[in-house]
Amino acid sequence: MGYYVTTPIYYVNAEPHLGHAYTTIAADVLARHMRQRGEDVFFLTGTDEHGEPVALAAEPLGVTPRELADRNAPRFQALARRVNATNDFFVRTSDEEHVSAVQEVLSRVERAGHVYLGTYEGWYCPRCADFKTENELLEGNRCPIHRLELVREREENYFFRLSAFQEPLERLYAERSDFVLPEHRRNEAIAFIRQGLVDVSLSRARLTWGVPVPWDEGHVFYVWFDALLNYYTALTYARPGEDLTVRFWPPDVHVMAKDILKFHAVIWPALLMAAELDLPEHLFVHGYLLMDEHKMSKSLGNVIDPFQVMDAYGTDALRYYLMREVTFGQDGSVSAEGFETRYTTELANEYGNLASRTLAMISRYRDGVVPSAEPPRALTADFERVAERVRGHFDTVEVTAALDEVWRLVRRLNQYVQDEAPWQLAKQDGAGEELDAVLYGLAEGLRVVSVLLHPFMPESVERLLDALGDEDRSLARARFGAGEGGARVGELRPLFPRVTPAEAGAAAA
Ligand code: MSP
Repeated sequence: MGYYVTTPIYYVNAEPHLGHAYTTIAADVLARHMRQRGEDVFFLTGTDEHGEPVALAAEPLGVTPRELADRNAPRFQALARRVNATNDFFVRTSDEEHVSAVQEVLSRVERAGHVYLGTYEGWYCPRCADFKTENELLEGNRCPIHRLELVREREENYFFRLSAFQEPLERLYAERSDFVLPEHRRNEAIAFIRQGLVDVSLSRARLTWGVPVPWDEGHVFYVWFDALLNYYTALTYARPGEDLTVRFWPPDVHVMAKDILKFHAVIWPALLMAAELDLPEHLFVHGYLLMDEHKMSKSLGNVIDPFQVMDAYGTDALRYYLMREVTFGQDGSVSAEGFETRYTTELANEYGNLASRTLAMISRYRDGVVPSAEPPRALTADFERVAERVRGHFDTVEVTAALDEVWRLVRRLNQYVQDEAPWQLAKQDGAGEELDAVLYGLAEGLRVVSVLLHPFMPESVERLLDALGDEDRSLARARFGAGEGGARVGELRPLFPRVTPAEAGAAAA
């Protein structure tokens, strides 16, 4: 069976920002790590194009919703490429194949008796595309998120019998303690279910920008049902002539932030049960990137433009910073200053310098050939089972913990250079063997940490491993002592060069 990982599909009513880049990068790190293990991976991302949020954003721009979607979807595709995401497909919910597959699945759900026609009355926020309960409303019947004054709407809707899944969902959470990770998010999901589930709107009668309800053309499906199903539909048409659901369904992990927990942890499994499809193995729910304590979001205007950061510092630096700074699973603040500090102290000094010093010493003292030696004992204990520990963290999607594990070794290697002072050994008569062992240990340590860092910083690590004369990037190679020495080292341009204030300024602006 393959390994299937997804990101949420992003709304095309606004431009992509750092928050979107964050989820896509994390899912990509996971996908790359799993490929290093030799897994058959499918990584999906895409855009959510239907529904009121997009229809409303198009109106004042004087374009149709489809035109707005066609204008913005390529920006999300460009972001995925720019962060070096290795997604195997990019799903757009306006794709014809997605539309017909949604109709097929939801017709099945209707035929199985999970749908009925009813009347909905409630406070509706068109920006959230969601009804609000009385106690969620701010004073003056305002949306708690958008602060819009809401109108009470009454309309005929098809309903999905979510209430009928109360028990099956409780059982699911009782039986599968790792269905939602991390654990505190699982508890949130359970608390929500315990409040008692009520049926939810499956269709909208007023809107036309959506997937038509096949048994009643006066309605389109409520955008969340259309959107959630992308994870399934994409596999049916991503490779023409091939049904990838056979290889990849069910998903191994859906990655998302906590804003959309309820839809994924409650409605999605219920919908899959109704459609008689297997449930995903895990949802991983990460926190928010904050700036000055607030969630970074387009409507608040406190966004960092990921493109500008990458133009100045490179893609790998952004990938590294986001995975390192904010513990995956928790909220965390990001800032231009924090970024620059980690870039200089960790990437340029700790890793970049370690690499250039090691290569320079091998060139100078050993004519550019990595000496063969026994793995130095001072390092073997630190490297013992590191690949297994990293694997363990990735099994539970603890991406930051995996990175921290590796970075401890980067620091250990820097300490080792200081302790052993190879430049002194090079001057001493009779210290040849000792110097061989130290240089071998450094090259080997650098090789192992680099293989483990590959999913995080693929471009830089490729360059470094090429310079070390090592070709194999598989996880099996991340074993200290597996390298034999004898490789000829090459040139390496600085991995993380100094950035001029002018270039950095453009990124911070
Ligand atoms: N279209 C829905 C998702 C449908 S999935 C079937 C949607 N789109 S969205 O454009 O609003 O994207 C929300 C997702 O973007 C979050 O769940 C998260 O993955 C990412 N993020 C957006 N802003 C973010 C932060 N400030 N911090 C962390 N993640 C952020 O919801």
